[in-house]
Amino acid sequence: MEKSTFHVAIIMDGNGRWATARGLPRVAGHRAGADAVRRTVEAACKLEIGTLTLYAFSSDNWGRPAAETGALMQLFEAYLSSEAARCLENGVRLEVTGRRDRLSPALLAAIAIAEATTAHCEGMRLRIAVDYSGRDEILRAARLALADFSPERFLSPESILSGESLSGSLGPDVDLLIRTGGEHRLSDFLLWQSAYAELVFTPVMWPDFTARDLEAALAEFRSRDRRFGGIQSYSGGSPPGLVFHRL
Ligand code: FPP
Repeated sequence: MEKSTFHVAIIMDGNGRWATARGLPRVAGHRAGADAVRRTVEAACKLEIGTLTLYAFSSDNWGRPAAETGALMQLFEAYLSSEAARCLENGVRLEVTGRRDRLSPALLAAIAIAEATTAHCEGMRLRIAVDYSGRDEILRAARLALADFSPERFLSPESILSGESLSGSLGPDVDLLIRTGGEHRLSDFLLWQSAYAELVFTPVMWPDFTARDLEAALAEFRSRDRRFGGIQSYSGGSPPGLVFHRL
């Protein structure tokens, strides 16, 4: 069977409001959100999604009270420690994307173990974005590419930093971007990769998100007419080589 290249990205919003509505502390919402992550990963595997990227913590989330950011970091660590084995069983390759320099040694160790344990897995690719900023990611990728720039080697900036090279280092384009929690914005998530993503917004708070909601978003995706700026309709993923040849 051909490997799926379909990329779903989710902005998991609404944990805090879900908890507040139940008279619970916000952290209880994040805990329930972690259960929704487990459910969603399982459902995504069954639906043969190629890559699932989950927005777990934005770089701007550091502005929250230390008790909340600390609890979130602990939840990520617990999730990675408990789920690495399950991912391995299901052939899921787990990766964490985002800045690493502000994460605790314990979380960094859990990331290293989870990534190494599942590195050879060939099923779904599960990417968890922690301390992630789309703008920062683009800047860092561009800086890294330009670090190779050297006038003595007669390399032009254009030959070092191109749309294709940047796309290569930033990872796969998003086909379907879902945001839960009723807000309609991107909040600095996968800005480059979502150039032609289909956007689906749902009022469902993340802790209530189920396999059915994922299926509903996929049904909505299938009903869309993707033309990528052209006039021909494409179903499924993006036509290869699209962005820079068409623009
Ligand atoms: C946004 O809801 C959610 C977050 C900032 C954290 C996301 C974390 C999880 C889903 C929990 C665990 C994740 C993993 C990968 C194990 P919010 O708190 O901004 O909600 P609000 O808008 O209702 O306040």
